[in-house]
Amino acid sequence: MAKIAPSILSADFSNLEQEIKKVEDFGADFIHIDVMDGNFVPNITLGPCVIESIRKVTNLPFDVHLMVENPERYLKDFAEAGADIISFHQEATHHVHRTIQDIKKLGIKAGVAINPATPVSLIEDILEEVDLILVMSVNPGFGGQSFIKSALKKISTLKQIILKNNYKTLIEVDGGINEDNAEKIVKAGADILVAGSAIYKSCDPKGVIKKLKLI
Ligand code: DX5
Ligand code: ZN
Repeated sequence: MAKIAPSILSADFSNLEQEIKKVEDFGADFIHIDVMDGNFVPNITLGPCVIESIRKVTNLPFDVHLMVENPERYLKDFAEAGADIISFHQEATHHVHRTIQDIKKLGIKAGVAINPATPVSLIEDILEEVDLILVMSVNPGFGGQSFIKSALKKISTLKQIILKNNYKTLIEVDGGINEDNAEKIVKAGADILVAGSAIYKSCDPKGVIKKLKLI
């Protein structure tokens, strides 16, 4: 059974407390928080202040997805604001291994995200070190895009390497996930599904989370 991480990027930002409590009641496992800097990706979202203020509305773990250049500059700020997991992009720093170590030193979990064009081979050497790999199945920057099918092969390649080596690394998949394609994604090897618009833009978010969790 997959774990579900609703992305609040598609939530109503004027009522974040309600939007977070709602998905918690419906059985979400994490809250996925998309941080964009207008530099690594062509969009700007939120920073540590917002995370700090929503930290008090839920006990669900905060899964913070940093889409920012040089993420190493902000790790402490996000950890202090309440992140339980920080994932940064392989493409956004020269020092992937060091950044993983720095996140772990802060006492939280570390993830590395890879864009659709980034091959698994580029993160193979750090797989054992990270708690999760975040496979992007859209180009990061916006919610509501379509799932890029080549992500499926990438997920299964990753899963094979993880199983073969007995690593504990989880696979999280992010972008364009909905009730129609979730089964294929989980079959390929995903452990955590991120879903933004499929949950928040639905007239039955409870039903969507229930369905996704049963896969
Ligand atoms: C995209 C973000 C995603 C986004 C997913 O850059 O990382 O987390 O919110 O949204 P959907 O599920 O609508 O593709
Ligand atoms: Zn994300």
